[in-house]
Amino acid sequence: MDLGFKGKVALVTGAGSQIGFGREIALVLAKEGCEAVAVTDINEEDAKKTAEAVMKLGSKSIAIRADITKKPEVDAMVENVINEYKIINILCNVAGAILHKDNVPLDEQRYETWSKQMDLNLFGTMYVTRAVLPHMRKQKHGAIVNIGSGSTHQYSFGVGMYAISKYAIDLFTRQMAYQEGKNGIRCNCIAPGPAPTNFGAVLREGAPPPPPEQYNKMREAMLAAFPLGRMGTPADIANITVIMASEATNYITGQLIHVSGGNVM
Ligand SMILES: NC(=O)c1ccc[n+]([C@@H]2O[C@H](COP(=O)([O-])OP(=O)(O)OC[C@H]3O[C@@H](n4cnc5c(N)ncnc54)[C@H](O)[C@@H]3O)[C@@H](O)[C@H]2O)c1
Repeated sequence: MDLGFKGKVALVTGAGSQIGFGREIALVLAKEGCEAVAVTDINEEDAKKTAEAVMKLGSKSIAIRADITKKPEVDAMVENVINEYKIINILCNVAGAILHKDNVPLDEQRYETWSKQMDLNLFGTMYVTRAVLPHMRKQKHGAIVNIGSGSTHQYSFGVGMYAISKYAIDLFTRQMAYQEGKNGIRCNCIAPGPAPTNFGAVLREGAPPPPPEQYNKMREAMLAAFPLGRMGTPADIANITVIMASEATNYITGQLIHVSGGNVM
């Protein structure tokens, strides 16, 4: 199957983490033949490592530092990509995190926590999308894939504000799909289940992982909730993200796809 990536330019946010979804998405885009994969992250050193890995696979790449919560940095980052490659065909909005360390009921969380979580996951995604849209409209072609979360369909204690911010991404995806369809731009959302990336580090606040006995008990309880019997990997998320960014799915827009081994149905 031709995924149609020849001559295409992709931009992947949150591509710095060397064990995260963004890096893996950038690498799969390169393996599948994208001409260029620009990578961006708040962590420049890590983004550079990803860009080097992309180039080793034969695609062009640049690493650009940008904090997606800062609109001027986002605008400059997108201009940088356009100056380098002239077009952006594919945008993968991956950067995000769970920011609440205060594991308390929603109404007891600090206002700053609510606000920071929305700034990063929702408004960050919107800033990047808004900066890329004029270029996609000019081309009359674009594929946007947002990373949501399976937590939007789960109600475990402590994920409340994070899940709300990710639900908003799901809605943003559908608004974009409706609004931009006539411009040849598709927008879809992938909702990963839990996967062992750097994601949980914020939750532990630098504390060491639990002792093996406790960890194994937690793991067993968790795995019972996964019909496919294992947790996800960055490759599980990257493969479907890249397929949704490809021409193989050019009649699909506005969809949410859960990728969690059946954890959410
Ligand atoms: N890993 C999971 O269990 C899981 C589950 C569901 C959804 N997700 C989502 O997947 C996405 C990727 O996370 P991951 O699991 O690869 O985690 P990760 O921590 O390994 O990678 C996230 C990347 O985003 C970057 N980032 C954070 N804040 C940023 C900012 N303000 N500006 C620019 N870059 C920033 C980080 O530096 C990091 O490189 C996130 O949106 C996350 O919410 C993760």
